[in-house]
Amino acid sequence: MRLSVPRHAAAVAAFALAGLLASGAPTASAAPAAPTAPVSALAAPDLPLANVKAHLSQFQTIATSNGGNRAHGRAGYKASLDYVKAKLDAAGFTTSVQQFTSSGATGYNLIADWPGGDVNQTVMAGAHLDSVSSGPGINDNGSGSAAVLETALAVSRAQLQPAKHLRFGWWGAEELGLVGSKYYVNSLPSTERSKISGYLNFDMIGSSNPGYFVYDDDPVIEQTFKDYFAGIGVPTEIETEGDGRSDHASFKNVGIPVGGLFTGASRTKSSAQAQMWGGTAGQAFDRCYHSSCDTTSNINDTALDRNSDAIAHAVWTLSTGTTVPPGDAYETTADVTVPDAGAAVTSTVTVSGRSGNAPAALKVGVDIKHTWRGDLVVDLLAPDGTAYRLKNSSGSDSADNVITTYTVDASAETANGAWKLRVQDVARYDTGYIDSWKLTF
Ligand code: TRP
Ligand code: ZN
Ligand code: CA
Repeated sequence: MRLSVPRHAAAVAAFALAGLLASGAPTASAAPAAPTAPVSALAAPDLPLANVKAHLSQFQTIATSNGGNRAHGRAGYKASLDYVKAKLDAAGFTTSVQQFTSSGATGYNLIADWPGGDVNQTVMAGAHLDSVSSGPGINDNGSGSAAVLETALAVSRAQLQPAKHLRFGWWGAEELGLVGSKYYVNSLPSTERSKISGYLNFDMIGSSNPGYFVYDDDPVIEQTFKDYFAGIGVPTEIETEGDGRSDHASFKNVGIPVGGLFTGASRTKSSAQAQMWGGTAGQAFDRCYHSSCDTTSNINDTALDRNSDAIAHAVWTLSTGTTVPPGDAYETTADVTVPDAGAAVTSTVTVSGRSGNAPAALKVGVDIKHTWRGDLVVDLLAPDGTAYRLKNSSGSDSADNVITTYTVDASAETANGAWKLRVQDVARYDTGYIDSWKLTF
């Protein structure tokens, strides 16, 4: 009994069926329009909650094996920093560790730059990585640290090429009075400070009885967060539980625009807030604030998830700008069978949200699986139907597959619309299918 079908055989079988269905069609191109999956460089990813929580587990393990905390001057702090740094280094960030002294102990800030973007317009996001000495500090502030780390790793996975430069920071000794972040801004010459367009702070974003608070500072940053929460139907309030009580104050004090998110500390949730957000009225947002019970059990997953995604949204939105940047790709991975010595078939990619014409160097990435590529004639069809020949047939070219990127001068074509890849097999015996293709503007 045959348990598996070789891929080319499966494609042939698929064609046999398509051929039957299409037998009444008068002319070419009987293939149904392929569903498209635009891969936009602008859309922030949904950060996997499991990844954020995995970082929290690591912080918990570090605390447990280092006397129960990750506080300034203790082994658990440096171990936390080493964990974050190793992830960033492996993901392609340029990291640096900044040392300072506070209360007779060495403290550390971790700075991670994502190469590229305009350094004169740097968007920064950060979180304090230290806990108080009385507990492992998983909500305060493993939560912000983990979410900022996962955002940075998502930037790397997307290989984001933002217009603005991106920098991430993890601060030491916040719990001793914003010591690490103050040290960082004080170490920056004023010319360097002025290159920071905005600093986004995340300190406590997974409180067990959460509120959804947005800092009321820079209006653009604030609105960016509010837009995200409005989009998921979650009401927000302005953060009022102690202005200046976290690292954004260090940046604000030297004139850098700031913003951030917060799910609440020791203050009590009102009944109006419980109506709005659920949870328990008359109870603290975080009953384990600065206590030994601030463990991985002290996290509200929904709050952590929403806030993590809000961070990614803000980092993407604020760094990529409002115009559609070059490098946006639109792709379909829907397979389309190419009939042997038969009619041309097409696969569609729909481009939207762009303005003006396509570029003079439009990249057409093609992945066609075929057992004799010389059989194939391949064209790109612009939305108005204009054909651009990518490849002619050539009986002697017996190699497999057409997997390559063509460059087309498409500057006479409107960018938006349904672009098609048209493929025709003009000689008998060998067969194949369009595996995927994409346009990069
Ligand atoms: N780590 C902060 C602190 O202990 C927590 C905090 C309290 C906070 N109020 C805040 C963080 C307001 C941000 C905004 O002070
Ligand atoms: Zn904190
Ligand atoms: Ca053929």
